[in-house]
This record gives sequence, C-alpha cells and structure tokens, in this order.
Amino acid sequence: MTEKAPYIQVIDLDFEYPDGTQALKEINLEIVKGEFIALIGQNGSGKTTLSKCLNGLYKPTAGDIIVDGLNTKKSSIVQMVKRVGYVFQNPDHQLFNSNCWDEIAYGPRNIQLSDEEVKERVEEAIQVVGLPKIYHSEHPFFLSKGLRQRVAIASILALRPHVIIVDEPTTGQDMKQSLEIMDFLQDLNDKHGHTIIIITHDMPIVGIYARRVIAMAQARIMADGPTGEVFTQTEVLEKTFLAPPQITQLAQADPDLGFNPGTLTVEDMVGQFLEMMGRRE
Ligand SMILES: Nc1ncnc2c1ncn2[C@@H]1O[C@H](COP(=O)(O)OP(=O)(O)OP(=O)(O)O)[C@@H](O)[C@H]1O
Ligand SMILES: [Mg+2]
Repeated sequence: MTEKAPYIQVIDLDFEYPDGTQALKEINLEIVKGEFIALIGQNGSGKTTLSKCLNGLYKPTAGDIIVDGLNTKKSSIVQMVKRVGYVFQNPDHQLFNSNCWDEIAYGPRNIQLSDEEVKERVEEAIQVVGLPKIYHSEHPFFLSKGLRQRVAIASILALRPHVIIVDEPTTGQDMKQSLEIMDFLQDLNDKHGHTIIIITHDMPIVGIYARRVIAMAQARIMADGPTGEVFTQTEVLEKTFLAPPQITQLAQADPDLGFNPGTLTVEDMVGQFLEMMGRRE
C-alpha cells in the first residue's frame, strides 16, 4: 500500500562534481512509501549520482532533498543510512570484511549499536535474504555473484532503511538468477513494506517488476510515470536512447491488432489475446 505524503522529495536538484561535470540538472520528484521504481537511462545519464544524492552521500550543489522530513544537507550520514540504503552497482566494491557475518554486522557496529542489537540485526537480515548457514563464516569472495549480492543487500538491510536502492541488480546474471533476485526484491516490497528503487538497463525486468519508471538522459529526468505509460512515450524514450521491452514493442507494432500499447509482459499479452478470442466467439 502506498501512503500519500511523500517519503522523499527532490526539489530543483542540481549536482556538480568537483571537476565541473554537471551530473544532475533541475531534478524534481516525489517518492511515496511502498513504490517499486525503475530508474533507467543510458550510461552516464546520472542514475548512480542521483542515488548517492538520495542517500545523502552527495549533498546537492543547488536545491534540496527531503527524506522522511530531514533535509539531506543538514543530516548526518547515520541519520541517512537508517532511511535510504544503496547497494552498489558491483557488490564487490561494497564487500571488504573477511567473512559474511562481519560484513553484514559492519553497518550496525558502525552506528554504535550494542553487541546484542548487532546480533539481532544480522540474524534478521540473514534470514530475509536467505543466506545458508554454511556461508556465514565464509569469505564473501568465495560465494557466487548471486550470493555476494545477497550479502551486499543484507549488509544494507541490517541498517533497516525504509528505501532500498539497488544499482544494476541483474547485470552479469542469467535470466533465472535475475528473476530470483528480482523476486526477492519484490518480496521486500510486498511483504516487508520496503520502497524499492532499481537502477537497470534490463527492459524486460522493468516491464515485469517496476510499477513506476523514471527515465533519465543527460542529467535530466525525461519521463516519470507508471511503467506502461512511460513505455508508450516513444518519442521521449528515443531521447533517452532506450527502447521499451520487445513484448511492448510487439503490442505497439500494429494498433489495428488491438493490444494495449502499454503491455508489459508476455502473460499480459496472452491474457489480452485470450480475451479477444473469447469476444469473437
Ligand atoms: N566521481 C566523479 N567525478 C566526476 N564526474 C563523475 C564522477 N562520477 C560520475 N561522473 C560523471 O557524472 C555523470 C553521471 O554519471 P553516473 O555515474 O551518475 O551515471 P549513470 O547513469 O549511473 O551511468 P552508468 O549507467 O554507466 O552506471 C557522467 O558524465 C559521469 O562521467
Ligand atoms: Mg551507474
């Protein structure tokens, strides 16, 4: 369920790196609790930079970001990590402890929780991501990429942030592994009530899982809305150099066929087809 009051408000945000690169320009958006958002856009469009602004790691050059009533400019890292968690594009850039348990405990220890609380948080996170016990004392680098990603997500979950941003969750994984990790993120959204933002280039995954799409190009937001609606804005999408999933393109190919141009999944298309057939009988 989504609530009306925004959990995150981004107001006229600009962000410039010290070398003068203008990575974000005039960004305005609101995110309410319970959303499942895909942030899409070509390489270098500003997706990672925006995420790092949302979790307070980067402070706006101009404009403001309000998270749960706190302005990121005036908030501490500790206040922010408890609200917005960011899982790195490459989990290996995030994992640096010598065993999985310590890796997941790192954040809670860092915010000075008691040993008891740390243990409770780690065990809870391990249970949510389903990391088998044999791996708890293993070095993260001996795990498969899928499991390393789970450890990376668990290390963020242990801080109990409401929003979880996962940068490129399916890169380098086959379809089965991708669906597994995405189903897991969907559970965090459905069953545990987390707001999820994924950053991805994988359009079929966007079609299946995301309810809202924010499309970026050249430091700006070009489109923002329900997934099916954004995927029908073909001219806008062209500016982002992105194409909707093939199934959506197929549904849009010949309007006379009568498919919904915002069709997102094969199941959805089959359903529409069966309905058309039923009507014809
Ligand atoms: N540390 C940095 N210093 C200077 N410029 C940077 C830095 N990090 C990123 N940039 C630049 O900022 C812009 C936005 O980069 P960003 O990493 O946010 O894009 P992205 O959409 O996440 O791309 P990708 O899909 O490749 O991950 C790009 O022009 C990039 O070169
Ligand atoms: Mg990036």
